[in-house]
Amino acid sequence: MAKKALNSLSAADLSGKRVFVRVDFNVPLDEQGKITDDTRIRAALPTIQYLTSNGAKVILASHFGRPKGKVVDSMRLTPVATRLSELLGQSVTKCDDCIGDAVASTIAGMKDGDVALLENVRFYAEEEKNNPEFSQKLASVADLYVNDAFGTAHRAHASTEGVTHYLNPSVAGFLIEKELQYLQGAIEEPQRPLAAIIGGSKVSSKITVIETLLEKVDKLLIGGGMIFTFYRARGLSVGKSLVEDEYVELAQKLEAKAKERGVELVLPTDVVVADNFAPDANAQTVSISNIPDGWMGLDIGPDSIKQFESALADCKTVIWNGPMGVFEFDKFAKGTEAVAKSLATLTGKGASTIVGGGDSVAAVEKVGLADQMSHISTGGGASLELLEGKVLPGIAALNDA
Ligand code: 3PG
Repeated sequence: MAKKALNSLSAADLSGKRVFVRVDFNVPLDEQGKITDDTRIRAALPTIQYLTSNGAKVILASHFGRPKGKVVDSMRLTPVATRLSELLGQSVTKCDDCIGDAVASTIAGMKDGDVALLENVRFYAEEEKNNPEFSQKLASVADLYVNDAFGTAHRAHASTEGVTHYLNPSVAGFLIEKELQYLQGAIEEPQRPLAAIIGGSKVSSKITVIETLLEKVDKLLIGGGMIFTFYRARGLSVGKSLVEDEYVELAQKLEAKAKERGVELVLPTDVVVADNFAPDANAQTVSISNIPDGWMGLDIGPDSIKQFESALADCKTVIWNGPMGVFEFDKFAKGTEAVAKSLATLTGKGASTIVGGGDSVAAVEKVGLADQMSHISTGGGASLELLEGKVLPGIAALNDA
């Protein structure tokens, strides 16, 4: 995605203005409906607090889950309003709808500095269809638009894209600015050496990002289940490990491309294999040329961890997306934990370390190192698409500076 200078929220005239703010409050809930991770709510606070302290009336909108255009009670934003109100230290008016007369009258009654949260925009099928009439209805209660929903910026929906056609100015919030500064900055103007660590189970979901990154990085470290497709391409036996046969040829081409471009491609030299996909499976560490028949690789091994650490040691910028193994099972979490620790050490030495993608973020949080990364993206799909060089419609729709 071309670097876009965005109209800054701090340049907007806010006092007394009704500001429609799209946030991404799609947070995880437990079975009792309690929020288990409020990171995305906290991440939106700088924008919300800036608006309230500058006398704006803040109208927040978000999706929550995938209700598919119907009202689903378990996907109401009520628990989010409660948590937001605690974090802000001020009451948040929760609306039962996101458009209509009741919403309009609540907003008409707002005072400068008040905050209201609209109901889940995906209760209307028109949201995901980016329907112009629905976009106009959303826009009708506000004077200007702020998009701070980085996690949803890859969706061209009514509340992320359509609404910008009816509100001027439409500007980026501070979270989107920060996400772009780190993610785009790492790709466009990195301190070198720049390394990317890409993990996850499937080559198919990471091909585009690998291809794009090969044009940008000095080193590319690959872990996770996708390594077995690369090993198959090298003619190695991989036992029962996950292989995407239709991507074997592509894996070969990616290795060739890395060589051609002088990118140091680091693939693990040993793996932890299991006799079964289970947390209590029997496990052993083997070299990649000795994977026994009937066993499957579920983590990178200790030699690979050392190999990764040494490849990363001199890096000034590191981007990480995707776990190194099945980190949900403690027995196969060591590779992912070691990468998290390496990145924390690098941050301490002044490198810029950026973590994106739901699983790698969860892993960093699980090992308690989230506060030791330079930046943890609030976007899974959005951060990946940005690294893939794609245009994010929610950002492209905002006014240029
Ligand atoms: C996310 O959680 O990745 C974002 O909120 C986007 O959600 P979606 O994949 O349902 O559009």
